Formats: sequence, C-alpha cells, structure tokens
Amino acid sequence: METNVNKIKIKMDGKEVLVDESITILEAARRNDIRIPTLCHHPALSNWGGCRMCLVEVDGSPKLVASCVTPVRNGMEVVTSNDHILECRRTILEFIFAERNHNCMFCPQSGDCELQQLAYELQMDHLTVAFSFNQFPVDVTSAYMAIDHNRCILCGRCVRACKEIAGACVLNFQNRGPESLIGMDLNETRDQSSCYGCGICVQVCPTGAMVNRYRSHYAVKGHAKDWRQIESVCSQCGLLCPTVLFERDNNLLKIEGRLSDTDGGPVRGQLCYKGRFEAIKNTHKRLESPMIRTENQTWEPASWDKAFERVCSTFNAVKAKEGGRAIFGLASSAASNEELLFFKDLMAEGCAAYVDTFDGGHFRTVAEAWKDIKQSYKEAPWHMLPAADVVILLGASPYQSQPLLSSLLRKSVMENGQKVAVFGQCDPIPPYTPYYFPVEDQDLPLVIQALKSQAMKLNDTPELLAKAGFEADDIKAFHEAAEILSNAANPLFIIGERLTGLRDASVLAEVMRLAELKGLCPDKALRLIILKPRGNSAGAWKLGVASGGKTPSSNHWKAGLVLLNELDDSPLAASAQGLGADFIAMISPYFPQDLADNVQVLIPKPFGMEEEGTYTSLEGVETAHKQKVLQPPESMKAPWQIFTTLAKGVGYTPRYRSWEELSQQAETEIKLPK
Ligand code: FES
Repeated sequence: METNVNKIKIKMDGKEVLVDESITILEAARRNDIRIPTLCHHPALSNWGGCRMCLVEVDGSPKLVASCVTPVRNGMEVVTSNDHILECRRTILEFIFAERNHNCMFCPQSGDCELQQLAYELQMDHLTVAFSFNQFPVDVTSAYMAIDHNRCILCGRCVRACKEIAGACVLNFQNRGPESLIGMDLNETRDQSSCYGCGICVQVCPTGAMVNRYRSHYAVKGHAKDWRQIESVCSQCGLLCPTVLFERDNNLLKIEGRLSDTDGGPVRGQLCYKGRFEAIKNTHKRLESPMIRTENQTWEPASWDKAFERVCSTFNAVKAKEGGRAIFGLASSAASNEELLFFKDLMAEGCAAYVDTFDGGHFRTVAEAWKDIKQSYKEAPWHMLPAADVVILLGASPYQSQPLLSSLLRKSVMENGQKVAVFGQCDPIPPYTPYYFPVEDQDLPLVIQALKSQAMKLNDTPELLAKAGFEADDIKAFHEAAEILSNAANPLFIIGERLTGLRDASVLAEVMRLAELKGLCPDKALRLIILKPRGNSAGAWKLGVASGGKTPSSNHWKAGLVLLNELDDSPLAASAQGLGADFIAMISPYFPQDLADNVQVLIPKPFGMEEEGTYTSLEGVETAHKQKVLQPPESMKAPWQIFTTLAKGVGYTPRYRSWEELSQQAETEIKLPK
C-alpha cells in the first residue's frame, strides 16, 4: 500500500529514478526491475547483510556495499553490475560452495535451489579455491523435515524466520568459524527440541539444508520452471491460512505459506505442520470405484448405477415402511460448505432423515450455552489473539487442534510479554506458560467457578480449588493468575474440546459470563474463542448440519448415509457404525478402516486437493475458497454428480441447479446472523 513517503532521486545503472527515501538499494532496484542476486536476504524477513552476494558499487567507490542493508540517499549513483562486481560475487559464491558439500547431483533439492540457480547465473562451472569442508551431521529425527548441515550456507534465513514469523526461537547459530552450524535449542536434535514443526525454516531455506520429507521427489532435477503455482487456502483447522500449492503433471509437489513483505499480519506466510506437511501426506488406500458388500462379507467393486440404486432403493423402502426418521445422515465437518449443505438437504428434505455431524455433541453444548446467556454476542476473531494481554486456555490444546494459534501465542509471549494460564490436561506450550494447572476434565467446572468467585471477590475459592485437587502451591499460583486476569485490560479466553466435550452447556455459559465481566471487543464479540474440532466445523454448524436436538437411541435406526472427508475421519466413521442401523452407506475418498458389518456400500469421492469448495473461518464469519489443484481419476464422479444422482434416486429436487448456485446458497446461509 502506498503511504506518504518522501521521494528522492537516485541513479541506478545510469538511469535516474525516483524512489522512497526509507528503502534499501536492493528494494529500489527490485521496484525498478533491476535484478541483484541475493542469498541471505528474504523479503518477508529482516535484513541481515550476511552473505554479501548483493554487492553493488556506490558513487564509484571501489569498496562495494551490500545493497540489502544499505539505504538509498538523495543523489546516490548505484551500479548493480559490472565486471568487478560480477567477479566479487563469483568469488564469494565459490567460497560458499567450497565451505560445505554442495554436491547437487546427490541433493534432494536439486532443481529447486537458489544456490544452484546462482551458480548457473554467475556461470560458476568449477571452483578456483580449495574445498575446506568438515563433515556435519544430518538430522532426520522429524517425520516432516530433515536438516543436512553439510548443505547449509549459514545465511540465517531459517533463524530469522523461526523468530520473526513462527515466534519460536528454536533455531540459532551454534559454534564458531568452520564448525558453525544451525543448532536447535541447546544442541538438540529436531525431535528433542522445542520445534513444533511449522516448517517455515524449510520454506525459506535457499539450499538443500532444510528439506521437506513429504515433498515429492518428482519435484526435483531442474523442473521448477514447469511448475504450476496455485494460490489457495488451507482448510485443515478454520484459520484459513493462505497457501501456494505447487503442481506438476498432476502431482502435488509442496505446499507453502504465502509470504509477503507487505502483509505484516499474523498470517505472514505461516502454516502449521498440518497445513504444510499433513495435507500433502496421503497414506490411505484410495477408494477407486464403488464397492458393495457381498453376502459372504467380502467387498466387490460395483458400477456407479448399482451402488446408487442400492442406496436409494434401501432409503425409499425404509422411508415407506418406517418413515424418514428411521434414516440418519452423518457428515464430517471437514467437508466443504457446498458438500455439507447438499448433504443436509438431501437427507433432511429428500429423505426426511435425522442429520448430524460427527462433532454434533460439541455444537449442541456451544449452542445451548449461547442460548443460556441470552445475549446476541459472538466469538472474538482468532486473529485478535496477539492483541490480548492475558490468555486463559480452558481445556484447549491449540497445538493439536489449531496449531497456528499456539505459534501466535508463543510469538506474543516473546514480543509483548503476554501472560498465559492453561487449565486442563492440555499442551502447556512450554516454556511459555507460567501458569499451568493440568486438572482433570471433570474438575474444569470447579476451576471456572473459582475464577469467577475470585473475579467477584467471593470467599469460596480455596474450597473450590481444594475440591479440584489443588495443593497449597497450586492455590498460590492460581491466585497469582487470577489476580493478573482481574487486572487485565484485554484478556482472552480460549475454550477447547475438553471443555465443550463435557457436554455441559452451563459450564461454558459460566465462562461466557466471566468473559462478559471483562467488557466486549468491537462488534459485540465476547473475549472468547471456541476451538472447533474439525476444519469446517463452524461452517457445518452455521449451515445447520449439526443437529440441535437430542440424538435418538441407536436401535432406532434402519439405514444411514455417512459423508467422510479427510483422513483423520476414520475413528469418527467407526463411531457412526455404532449407530446400529441395518444398512449404512459411506461416501469417502479412501477405503475406511475397520468397517463394521452394517456398512454395505462405499461410494468414492475425490480427495480434498481434487475438489474445490468454500470453508468457514473458526468464528463462523468469513468464508474462503479452496482451489482444486489436482485432477481426480477419470472414473471418479464429482460430489455434485454424486449428490444430484442420490437426490434423483430418492425423488428430491434440489433448490440449486449448479455447483455455483449451491455455493452461493451456502455463502448466504453462512452470512445469516446466528
Ligand atoms: Fe545482501 Fe546477503 S543478500 S548480504
């Protein structure tokens, strides 16, 4: 965004240009389409000036300067390339190559490496200096990434990214001189360190020193120029982080966060281990065609027509004999808004069935709590977390559910001294949590009552804490934390699944009242964030897919349809089987494990990367569009075709005639007030 910055006049390669007075020579060159090579510089990180690859000549001086850290000055004359400059850059590059083992032929990053690219650019086809490298360790203790110190150029990008973007400060320089390397904490391996696997170091590394272990080997060997880059969002947890996906020949090569030097917000290129690594990992067996269970309990491939006919005829027969309420529809809240809305309409309107989501129990607790406090409040947006001065986590493990939140938390603690108290058997975000009370789930209500009593200056706090099993030291620490909370101007409560999983709306309503005591955020938002179990839980809940009523008893069901989505739906699918219907059909991208006898039909659907759709943010306000990146196999049917065929089979005419109209309808319903 253009701001009111004074302009100054400088000369670059003989051409007069007007530039902002506050920028570096490198920025001025880039804004005027002049290429200066860099290695340690990264536009999303602070300037460092370590590698000297960006040397330029200023005002004819023979002493070259690093353009990435030298500010422009009125009247300055800059030369970005001449024989002397190129010679210096090439010599520096030779020393970098000579210092470590950069044998491209055996490097997994070959073809996607800035160092290698620079060697081509500067035509460095041999070394004129002697190799001088030591042998360094290779750390493969993380399932997600490997560190090969032999390929490190000590540019420090990873160190700065770990601090400035991830807020983790795990990586740092270790040792001196030729022994220098990038260490983790106090010389730990990745698995023993406090690294939480966000992978930003891998994204900014200009060589093969930090590599993504899930990155496809198909990515390598000079193919980078053929890659297709697709801007999308991550749908793993409701934070909807902007991503760039790299595809070639229908292979997903890697996923990166969208880094930008202009977006200084909390999502500046950040992704978590789920968005960067888990989303690319695919170890489950694909469901390639519809399957029907035979009489002798084996699974056999079937035609689409046969599978649809089996499902629809069963549903029609049950509906005619028992009524629609003997049929259930159960959906994963990881599905897109479009799939969820069509699924709900198909089951509720088309079959008069009972519809719910796997996380419906959490929804009912949250919905009843909102009703209980009888106010039209809403949740705080998740990105207000860094602005809070005190954060109280109740039964919440953001590292498990929304890992980016724990990253933001660590960063805010480091930068602003934010105070954090954790109550529950949860991830304590070490070493950033001064107040950690690992109380059992069933004791959370006592702790919440004690917090409220303390805030209202009542005398029953010690009694409540004693009941919750607090020792004298814990009680002292509790009073300190409660005192900090009562003095906080801008506190924030984060509620997790362990609390909503208690299925006691009155407990959650108590937290809401406690938050209310601290005043509201803009837009009538309570100082409270509720972490949802699945990537699009907020969308599913707002679209009315999760049932507001009591679940009927399991022996009530005669037939059911289950919509699965991403891989960790498998345990949830098992719970669906527990519903005990005679006939269950599943729509799933993969072959679900441990299928019970009552699952009779499997209908395949595309994987997440093979379909587009909209997803709703954690607080249920914004929606974002996730792009289709890969083409599904030709034999696969799109969700739209699957649902329209099922709708026709049960005699239901949907209220939308295309995927676009369905998308529009979902958007409208999401935007409706709660
Ligand atoms: Fe300027 Fe490294 S890019 S010193």
